[in-house]
Amino acid sequence: MLLRQPSFFTLFCIFWVFLLPNLLLVNGSVGYDHKAITINGQRRILISGSIHYPRSTPEMWPDLIQKAKEGGLDVIQTYVFWNGHEPQQGKYYFEERYDLVKFIKLVQQAGLYAHLRIGPYVCAEWNFGGFPVWLKYVPGISFRTDNGPFKAAMQRFTEKIVNMMKAEKLYETQGGPIILSQIENEYGPMEYELGAPGKTYTHWAANMALGLRTGVPWVMCKQDDAPDPVINTCNGFYCDYFSPNKAYKPKMWTEAWTGWYTEFGGPVPTRPAEDLAFGIARFIQKGGSYVNYYMYHGGTNFDRTAGGPFIATSYDYDAPLDEFGLLKQPKWGHLKDLHRALKLCEPALVSTDPTVVRLGSSQEAHVFKSESGACAAFLANYNPSSYAKVAYGNNHYNLPPWSISILPDCKNTVYNTARVGAQSAQMKFTPVYNHFSWQSYNEETASTDDSAFTVLGLLEQVNTTRDMTDYLWYMTDVKIDSNEGFLKGGKEPVLNVMSAGHALHVYINGQLVGTAYGSLENPKISFGEGVNMRAGINKISLLSIAVGLPNVGPNFERWNAGILGPISLSGLNEGRRDLTWQKWSYKIGMKGETLSLHSLSGVSNVEWVEGKFLAQRQPLTWYKTTFNAPSGNEPLALDMGAMGKGQVWINGQNIGRYWPAYTAKGSCSDCSYAGYFSEKKCLTYCGDASQRWYHVPRSWLKPRGNLMVVFEEMSGAPNFISLMKKEISSICADINEWQPTLVNWHLKSSGRIDKPLRPKAHLWCAPGQKISSIKFASFGTPEGSCGNYKQGNCHAHNSYDIFQKDCVGQPGCAITVEPRLFGGDPCPNVMKKLAVEAICS
Ligand code: GAL
Repeated sequence: MLLRQPSFFTLFCIFWVFLLPNLLLVNGSVGYDHKAITINGQRRILISGSIHYPRSTPEMWPDLIQKAKEGGLDVIQTYVFWNGHEPQQGKYYFEERYDLVKFIKLVQQAGLYAHLRIGPYVCAEWNFGGFPVWLKYVPGISFRTDNGPFKAAMQRFTEKIVNMMKAEKLYETQGGPIILSQIENEYGPMEYELGAPGKTYTHWAANMALGLRTGVPWVMCKQDDAPDPVINTCNGFYCDYFSPNKAYKPKMWTEAWTGWYTEFGGPVPTRPAEDLAFGIARFIQKGGSYVNYYMYHGGTNFDRTAGGPFIATSYDYDAPLDEFGLLKQPKWGHLKDLHRALKLCEPALVSTDPTVVRLGSSQEAHVFKSESGACAAFLANYNPSSYAKVAYGNNHYNLPPWSISILPDCKNTVYNTARVGAQSAQMKFTPVYNHFSWQSYNEETASTDDSAFTVLGLLEQVNTTRDMTDYLWYMTDVKIDSNEGFLKGGKEPVLNVMSAGHALHVYINGQLVGTAYGSLENPKISFGEGVNMRAGINKISLLSIAVGLPNVGPNFERWNAGILGPISLSGLNEGRRDLTWQKWSYKIGMKGETLSLHSLSGVSNVEWVEGKFLAQRQPLTWYKTTFNAPSGNEPLALDMGAMGKGQVWINGQNIGRYWPAYTAKGSCSDCSYAGYFSEKKCLTYCGDASQRWYHVPRSWLKPRGNLMVVFEEMSGAPNFISLMKKEISSICADINEWQPTLVNWHLKSSGRIDKPLRPKAHLWCAPGQKISSIKFASFGTPEGSCGNYKQGNCHAHNSYDIFQKDCVGQPGCAITVEPRLFGGDPCPNVMKKLAVEAICS
């Protein structure tokens, strides 16, 4: 009997299902299988964090990377920012904050891996999503679709970066730190909108990337149909529900959002550490093996790099490292404890898939039991409002609402996501310098000099400025007849201006008559106000101000900015006069920009005034001062609370757009960690400035004579600008009397103790500081949170004593949560905790 030949299809399936995964495993030192990324053949649970190199300074990088390592990270992830690297077509820049090679080498020196998300579309609340503006003007181009000119440019840049990494031997297969790459970014939803050309582009992008032979796997995030062998990955606040598109690919989470971005006009979002830890544990218990915190350090949108429009300069993101690089506690510490717990489970996690056991109506156990005997269990309570007592194995476990307990030996709890053992810290800004002596220079308001040009009708702003500046003047003349009724006591005419955004100043005959601006949700402006005019020629000058180019949305590159009209004057004798199609003159940028007033070389190009001539609360004004660097090494920020909107430069470096006059709309209601989180949930600073403090990197200062230049667009009182330092004001510990701890777990799981040990409250000030007093201490049932604790019904009267004795005058202390130390148990049979707040100075 003849055997039937296997069909091509059968061979194809055998290849994909059995051979390809093995090839990936043995070929080179980084591969993957259905459980995990493998490095040198070893499956790994990898904890990663995003640090975007241009959002901090090279001087900050080593410290950020070190703190990430101490926080338990294995991998640093970054996008690559095309518009920073190729500001002009064919002219590349890889210096200073854009020194990508240096950044990756620092990651390597710290002993960490890197995940390079080349994009080159990155979204990221970054100007134009990372695309250089010149790209828009390449003939015949259409972004992120099956378009020849776009694909050619994208390939050129991607190749440039890959070749650069290869030349520096930075891929893991060459002995470097890069274990993963990414092509495109969240293209799935775009492909869905575009249909066939979108699909073709996806395949082209994957093949182009694979063709670059980096030797390490490529991922495509939010791309369900990522072509094999590219791994499709998840982005979101939670990703436990996610499965990759092939059974042999690992379950990876490229963006676990640690908070959210701030927009001018919006409140400042935060995400509770307990919920973030819960989301991560929930992903791992469902077989996830790679998590990246987006962001681990958010940093600053220096210069005009903020996207949007209306993205704020701070990109703090409520990340575990704050904008300035300081630990955000308890978030950083709580995640560090989580990572330690997960690493204890790693042998079990990588060797098997979990079995799920129901423990109650909203409770489950996920158990990883390997053949070699390793066992790790995750006990989850999904109920957002009640505690659950569950039986698992031979024991009972008490699970707080919306939490997961981790049992690295399937018996003893080492960590619960809702029990924060790490200390928290309250931060404060303290003035270090607030007696700047300012000089001012009035920007020219709408003059038509040589640089102006005139056309019929209205021009789109980005096409005109090419985003070299935020500012574009639109100027025209309007003739008013002496017979106009309004000149004889009638109602003044109304000027109507429709703008595509983002902010607008209206000047009539050199006088500011109104200001209007949009928002991220609706950047458009509809201005309509009565204006005073005189008989004869009147000058209308409209200053249109861009606040960052869009970074997301279908065809975001085609969004317009600037005054597109119609523009009209109504209430004249003739009724309404349309001004849209008459002659308009244009001037790109401010005169002060042309003169480089912000720079050390250009600042003397004009006459500055001071003292009683200093401009106060006046639009379009330049201010300058010099100052010496304050001593110490705390991070510095400018308090711009008394200013309106503009930009600040220190020694010629642009620290970003400021806009404290734009206050946060929205409601900042209570924030409970329990229940699904969204970016609308835990908002802060409602009614206050969306951003008041602006980071001044220490490395931009010299010891003496630093030049600070401010350009104020609206109205400001520069005498109230202060340089502040950011430091810890107080630290808190909030510990349950039987909270699980690592030490306890080690002793119990190795059989050295039968009964759990009591946990310790750890309190440590920043290096150089000491605990100067105890603001609050209560063992019992204290209420509130760090900064506003109150005693509850049950309180041990000697709660303060031990802290006074062992902590005050010390840089830190660790006190066991032992009733005896507080004068005895104040309420037996009640579950108690210790809350303490200590002042550092
Ligand atoms: C994601 C995107 C990121 C960032 C994030 C929001 O969808 O991939 O680049 O924009 O949203 O912060």
